[in-house]
Amino acid sequence: MVNELPNDVLDNFRRSDLYHNSFLIGNDEGLQSALKNSKENGLRDMAVSPAQGKLLKLLAQSIGAKRILEVGTLGGYSTIWLAQALPEDGELVTLEISEQCAKVARENLQTAGVRNVRVVVGNALETIGTLRHEDSFEPFDLVFIDADKENNLHYFRGLNLSPDSLVDNVVRGGKVADLSQSNSQIEGVRKLLEALKEDKEVEATTIATVGEKGYDGFLYAVKL
Ligand code: DHB
Ligand code: MG
Repeated sequence: MVNELPNDVLDNFRRSDLYHNSFLIGNDEGLQSALKNSKENGLRDMAVSPAQGKLLKLLAQSIGAKRILEVGTLGGYSTIWLAQALPEDGELVTLEISEQCAKVARENLQTAGVRNVRVVVGNALETIGTLRHEDSFEPFDLVFIDADKENNLHYFRGLNLSPDSLVDNVVRGGKVADLSQSNSQIEGVRKLLEALKEDKEVEATTIATVGEKGYDGFLYAVKL
């Protein structure tokens, strides 16, 4: 995991999330069973937190998103949050490399009663390109990038259309900004940042997040 916060600090943020959530976020059986079923099937515990999931939903709602693309489905937890923002005739396409994750995600989506989601199995570097060539292709309003961090930039550029994009895990416990550190995931974030610096058609910002999932952050990019 990205988190390397001491346990007492993490407990503090976990308590804070739970406290705020107790006012702002109701119990949702579909979301809760998604986490339970994902765990029972051995999926890694790296879904967004409830507070982050709700932010995704509110963001999608506030831009009136009708079509959402997600890169990296895992067990479909964030998928369910995002799908809740869609109108009846909206669609969410989510790309997942692992057959096993996709299977669990489909179960979770069904249990949650979410219908307008298509889980596409395969390497997103390839499937993201084929989406554009589908006969019925329509542009996406929002993209949530939460897959292998190495390919952030490829996913960001993947549609050649640059809708609003939200990229997860761009702070990584502060390691992205620590130039003495390097690994392929950190470099994946740095490449995205360098490209955004040069891109005069996109405005973006990073918001660091801290909570029950530790210390990380989202980058939000909007095409001008
Ligand atoms: C990891 C990946 C994620 O998308 C995340 O939100 C947290 C951790 C990981 O690969 O460890
Ligand atoms: Mg993530």
